Amino acid sequence: MEKLNPVLHIGWDPRPIGALHRAGAEVTCVVPAKDAPGVRAAGAAAIVVPDPGSVEDILGGLARNSLAPSDFAAVCSANEFYLVQAAAVAEVGGALGAGSTRTLAMRDKFVQKDLLRRAGLRTAGHTLVESLERFDPDTLALPQVIKPLHGAGAMHTVVVRDPEELRDAVAAARQVADGPWLFEDYVPGQEFFVDGVVRDGCVLAFSLSRYFQNMIECHGGGVVAYQTLTESEAPELYAESRTLAESAFKALDFQDGVFHLEVFWDGQEAVFGECAARVGGGRADRVFELTFGINLHDEWALAALDLPSGIQGEPVRSAECFGGLNLQCPQGVVVSVPTLEQTLARPGVVEADIYLVPGAVAPDFNSASHIRSGQAVLTGADLRQVAERVTGLGTWFHDSVEVAPAGG
Ligand SMILES: Nc1ncnc2c1ncn2[C@@H]1O[C@H](COP(=O)(O)OP(=O)(O)OP(=O)(O)O)[C@@H](O)[C@H]1O
Ligand SMILES: [Mg+2]
Repeated sequence: MEKLNPVLHIGWDPRPIGALHRAGAEVTCVVPAKDAPGVRAAGAAAIVVPDPGSVEDILGGLARNSLAPSDFAAVCSANEFYLVQAAAVAEVGGALGAGSTRTLAMRDKFVQKDLLRRAGLRTAGHTLVESLERFDPDTLALPQVIKPLHGAGAMHTVVVRDPEELRDAVAAARQVADGPWLFEDYVPGQEFFVDGVVRDGCVLAFSLSRYFQNMIECHGGGVVAYQTLTESEAPELYAESRTLAESAFKALDFQDGVFHLEVFWDGQEAVFGECAARVGGGRADRVFELTFGINLHDEWALAALDLPSGIQGEPVRSAECFGGLNLQCPQGVVVSVPTLEQTLARPGVVEADIYLVPGAVAPDFNSASHIRSGQAVLTGADLRQVAERVTGLGTWFHDSVEVAPAGG
């Protein structure tokens, strides 16, 4: 494969760095001190900075190593929090990058919705509230969703349905930050997501999945679980969401990369939720790879290096169905946890990771959708079997973790 070297990657994750290596890149990562040993063990160079999310820190780290952005052929990141910084640093150095304006459109919730609404696409009406202290609650029609501009995992994101809920939510949000906050019209319907690949503006791979519960339900004890859907299981939504995605990518000028798109569906109409230019969270990458034999991290790296996609023709779907979930446990101090072997022995479990250890305090699963005590990928013969197995594993794991009351 053609080499495009050297490559600067902002942040560290073994999966995209492995993909860059497979694409022939010599990689330098800008990372905090804790990540440097892992980076070096993976065969990449590390530049240590206090905060890789700061452009000043990135430029300073490079300068301390007698380097500049122009010393790299490409600057990229697979970490959603560093995408815009990587694109900006690429522009500073005249290196290959994703383009800061384009990247911002795939990152900033206000900018994205603004571009989509200007293009006439279906997405929530949105209002930027610069300061909650000066905010007049009577200006917005309820229900609304209040969220941080750069939120992730539904953290600090709430639905308000009446004036009392609005007052309480604004008071709680002010404890986090005065502003700016994004207020969106509430979109009814069930939430789905799409993982895929776009190159030269054409969608090369497109996989629709359903969430068992909308992500925002995580605040009320909801589960974070998902499963892929074949086209014949959701023909209308497949067609609607693909058209919506293609129109959205044109409006956002998103031509090349991998994407994770969220969509609401009320049975009639698909409404664009949001779209990120990155591999989906949780185990969406493994579910996609098991379903189509395509590694999304490889596709991300090929796009970042402007090399041809490895996808040839329409991806061929496995005869099996797949799903995944975040494992949760009761609140308290963990006394005992099922082993990995026990978890892998449950029906349909293909892969699992368990992060809980005895003595740890169970995390607050209600705070954000990415808070978990483990993750698993499951397979089944059809939609119903995968759904049963995913739900069954979640219940079994939860009920098998023994906890003692915290502080007891
Ligand atoms: N306008 C809306 N109407 C209805 N539900 C919404 C709306 N906006 C957000 N939500 C709910 O809140 C969740 C989190 O919101 P959003 O996806 O905007 O932020 P996020 O925290 O960035 O999530 P992610 O982890 O996908 O990056 C959504 O997945 C959805 O369940
Ligand atoms: Mg989201």
